[in-house]
Order: sequence, then structure tokens, then C-alpha cells
Amino acid sequence: MDKPFLIAQITDPHIKAGGKLSYRQVDTARALTQAIDTLNALTPRPDLVLISGDLVDFGHPEEYATFMRLMAALTLPFYVIPGNHDHRDNLRAALESHRYLFQHPEYLHWVVDDYPIRLIGLDTLVTGKPHGELDAASLAWLEATLIRRPDTPTLVMLHHHPFVSGIDHMDRQPLLDAGAFEAVIARHPQVERVLCGHLHRSLQARFGGTLALSCPGVSHQVSLDLSMDGPAHFQLEPPGYLLHAYTPQSGLITHQGFIECYPGPYPFFDANGLID
Ligand SMILES: [Fe+2]
Repeated sequence: MDKPFLIAQITDPHIKAGGKLSYRQVDTARALTQAIDTLNALTPRPDLVLISGDLVDFGHPEEYATFMRLMAALTLPFYVIPGNHDHRDNLRAALESHRYLFQHPEYLHWVVDDYPIRLIGLDTLVTGKPHGELDAASLAWLEATLIRRPDTPTLVMLHHHPFVSGIDHMDRQPLLDAGAFEAVIARHPQVERVLCGHLHRSLQARFGGTLALSCPGVSHQVSLDLSMDGPAHFQLEPPGYLLHAYTPQSGLITHQGFIECYPGPYPFFDANGLID
């Protein structure tokens, strides 16, 4: 078996400036540093890292400066898209060296063709709103981009979930008109995954003939509450990341890892076989 091409995904770091806590509770800078330490220590090393939006909490330039100062510790290349907490121009200004963010004149849509897996990032940010949108021109850009490489396995990443999560307060701020997006995806079976953030927890859903995945939050998680009109709450469950492993033989396999430290690893076997 070939060494897999490894793509780590983290999401929603929600960085604040000046040591401020998110929602007066969450030390998001510390959480991102712990995530970076975890990703740097993975063996084998991931080939790259995807960050699926909400890089910062309020879109301020000083928050992006803090984000980039923290990210300097990451020893892997990384690619980002904006989330609803981001500010398009401030993000692009702070990540000026990320030239892939400058492909589209209006939005931060991008495609990267440098790897065995093709990467497409979509910008669903609607300024001042929590929900996401892809207008007709954006869907046309996606369709034209997918048509160009029909035989290359592809990841499509967007911030907002394009499916009904069952978490009521989050389903009031999804990707709007997700059916139009799903119709584009369904026409391009090379799309191995649709990756999103926003939900701050791990979910999987069938979507457009492929699998849509929501990545766990890198700091706080949205509470698992499927009641109608459930409150907009978060909790400090173990933060996590996804690790997408691709080989031509096995296709794409997605693992979930946790960022906190736990006891182990311990062996299943000793010299006598399975340990009794
Ligand atoms: Fe978020």
C-alpha cells in the first residue's frame, strides 16, 4: 500500500485579540495552539491542513494578526476559507501570502490542483449575517471548475452546513438554498467529500451522491441538543480534528482524532498473543 496522502482538517478557531476569551469562557488561542501542537506531532505527517472557516471571532484586523502569529507555529502548509465570523477583506489582507485566496475577483473561492486530491474552497460568507449563501455566479464557477477535472478525486470545502443538522439554532443559519448546491455536486461524482465547519461538532450526512462531513470544533463544541427550540449553547467537550487519508487503492478514508491527551497507546498483544 502506498503512503496515503494525508489532509488534516480543523475548524472554527474563533481567535480573539489581546487574550480575550470567546463568550467570556473559551481560551481559543490556547485551543488553537494545542491543535497546532497535535498536528505537528502526527506521524506520519499530514501533507497539508484545511481550516474550514471562522478563523477569528469578530473579523477584526488584530484578531487576524493574532491568528497568523499563532499559526506560525504550524510546520505544515495550510489553506483556509472564511466563515460567518470572518471579514473577507481583513482576512485576505492578513493572509496576503496565501495567493490561492486571490483567484476570484469577488469571493474567496479557490481551487488548488497541486496534489493527488483536488481541493476546492468556497466562500459562503454573507456580510453581517450568520447564514451562508452561494449565488448563481458562485455555483456557475463551481460547476465550471468541477467540469475541468472530472477524473480527479476532489474535496469541496465550505463553512456552512448544506444539510439539516437537527440542532435547531444552527439550522436557522445553514447554507441557504442548499438544493441548488447539491444539484451541482450530484453532477460530479469525483467529489469524494463535502467538508464543512460551522456546526462545531462531528456530523455525517448523505449529500448529492457523496458524503458531507462537519468537522469538530478546534476549541468549543455546539451542544448536542436535538430538541425543537433548543438554546444556542456550547460546551467544552473534547476538541477534535479530521484526518482524510487518500490512496488510489483505498480511496478516501476519514478519521477523527482528538486534541486533548489521553492515556496510551497500549498494546493489544504481547509475546503470548492477545493480552488476557
Ligand atoms: Fe464557528
